[in-house]
Amino acid sequence: MLYRRLGRTGLTVSEISYGAARGASEDRENFIAVVRAAIDAGINFIDTAGGYDGGESERALGEALRGRDDVLVETKYCPYESYAVGAAYVGTPEALVASAEESLRRLRRDRIDVFLGHGIRTLDTLDRFMTDGCYEAMVRLRDQGKVRFIGISELSEGDGTHEVLREAVPTGAFDVVMVTLNMLLQTAADTVLPLCAEHDVGTVVMMPLNQASRVSGLVSVGAALECVRRHVAAGNLPDEPPYTSPDLFDFLKPYSIPEAALRFVLAHDVSTCCVGTRSVERLKENLRAVDPPYLDEARLTRLRELFGGIQKQVL
Ligand SMILES: NC(=O)c1ccc[n+]([C@@H]2O[C@H](COP(=O)([O-])OP(=O)(O)OC[C@H]3O[C@@H](n4cnc5c(N)ncnc54)[C@H](OP(=O)(O)O)[C@@H]3O)[C@@H](O)[C@H]2O)c1
Repeated sequence: MLYRRLGRTGLTVSEISYGAARGASEDRENFIAVVRAAIDAGINFIDTAGGYDGGESERALGEALRGRDDVLVETKYCPYESYAVGAAYVGTPEALVASAEESLRRLRRDRIDVFLGHGIRTLDTLDRFMTDGCYEAMVRLRDQGKVRFIGISELSEGDGTHEVLREAVPTGAFDVVMVTLNMLLQTAADTVLPLCAEHDVGTVVMMPLNQASRVSGLVSVGAALECVRRHVAAGNLPDEPPYTSPDLFDFLKPYSIPEAALRFVLAHDVSTCCVGTRSVERLKENLRAVDPPYLDEARLTRLRELFGGIQKQVL
């Protein structure tokens, strides 16, 4: 495992990190086994949220990470009614502080390493978050030592060109951002990532497999082709070869689709690529991607030619 600097936090994070969004309530024992396998493999950064699995993700992490204060945990407060793109903003400083306190209890920790505003999705609600006391409450938590570093994540399903992060990063308000970058949504490469480098903001990449389900996403040739078919149907890609060809992704061989997808992310100037899986086997497959230079220039160029123009995320 190689490690990278998480921007101005000065923390050193494994280039593959673990996304703990799924599986805690489905099969807690298995969840804990995957987390421990991730740590054994050198992963030292885990992403969760107060809202994941109704708090079960944090609770199970509290159990899995007992005695492992060396493992860094990032968690979040969502100031919206739900994760849906159009959900109403309901953030308040009181709710933010209560959420952080709850996270500390569930995680059984006395401080949160990185605390994010979760899924900030419009410029209007970013402005509200910055001015209604929520941001000040985050800073207070940091001053009190309950939180070490602060940031926000975006909601790329509704903000494919990262308007929110492009506005937020240059303000200097945040130490870390969570941003989507993957083969089928490359827009951050020329926008958010250079800004983060300029302002020394840590970059945690989310959705490297495009938040895959079994049907669609960067987890198999069939699921990746389905994702491309959805882009064609949405008018984001032309309805013609090579996009309509079953061998569209053949140039990525011998890599599997998920391995190529993770290599694609790691070939960029990011702090860490956060990927979730509920399987130790698939975790091990994902760990094969940590091998510089990750992806050769020919495949990177082809991926840019094919998908670099996509401006909207399709799941
Ligand atoms: N707005 C936000 O703040 C936000 C939004 C989305 C995600 N996130 C964070 O980012 C993390 C990563 O994103 P994500 O998990 O949603 O999406 P992702 O990493 O793009 O995809 C994860 C999915 O891919 C499957 N998978 C993983 N490795 C695989 C492999 N080698 N082969 C086949 N399938 C594989 C997993 O299924 P199995 O579990 O069945 O292996 C899981 O369903 C999340 O865990 C979460 O912590 C944050």
